[in-house]
Amino acid sequence: MRQLGPRWFARAQGPVEEGGKWPKVRRMRRQDVREVAEIERRSYSLPWSAFTFRSLLRRPNAVLLVAEENRDIAGYAALWLAADEAELGNLAVRPGRRGRGIGRALLGHMLEEAARGGARAVFLEVRESNAIARRLYEASGFRIVGSRPDYYASPREDALVMRLNLDRLSLTVSRPGR
Ligand SMILES: CC(C)(COP(=O)(O)OP(=O)(O)OC[C@H]1O[C@@H](n2cnc3c(N)ncnc32)[C@H](O)[C@@H]1OP(=O)(O)O)[C@@H](O)C(=O)NCCC(=O)NCCS
Repeated sequence: MRQLGPRWFARAQGPVEEGGKWPKVRRMRRQDVREVAEIERRSYSLPWSAFTFRSLLRRPNAVLLVAEENRDIAGYAALWLAADEAELGNLAVRPGRRGRGIGRALLGHMLEEAARGGARAVFLEVRESNAIARRLYEASGFRIVGSRPDYYASPREDALVMRLNLDRLSLTVSRPGR
């Protein structure tokens, strides 16, 4: 399996603007949830509710990050850890801000968080038709390891299960702010 190296993580940090790294990735706070839930509604046909995000924020094994741009939330990602595995839940970027490296930056920080939390592998499910997300995950080293027939509704569709081995991951991304 292809392993990620420093160059991938350098790209994961996105273009550097004057005054610091771009985008700013930090931990999600309770006051971010309204904006996060709005992006979620615009990104998924069966969105998680604000209540779900608030519940996740209370879970000690969950990691929730946001990417901030011009003081508003441009994207977010959620992951949870169980023993030496991690599951990437949702990853979304605000429509209109996509295609500029924010998704890659969030994913890069999340993989570092997973490795730091002791995970040796990260799993995720993705709609079979979601070519953009699949490309991002594949470029990040994830590989398809299975499928779940009819996993999704609205529209009904299979999920592909993808896995990334973190064992030899090279970590160069700085820790997200609090
Ligand atoms: C998937 C998503 C998070 C990607 O975020 P993004 O900020 O637009 O992605 P980035 O700009 O960081 O691009 C990262 C990679 O994604 C892929 N990608 C992004 N936009 C793409 C497009 N329009 N067409 C094809 N591939 C694309 C490319 O592989 C790209 O890498 P490259 O620039 O080196 O080619 C975003 O499209 C999104 O929020 N989608 C809706 C929610 C969703 O489907 N989430 C994933 C669920 S599993």
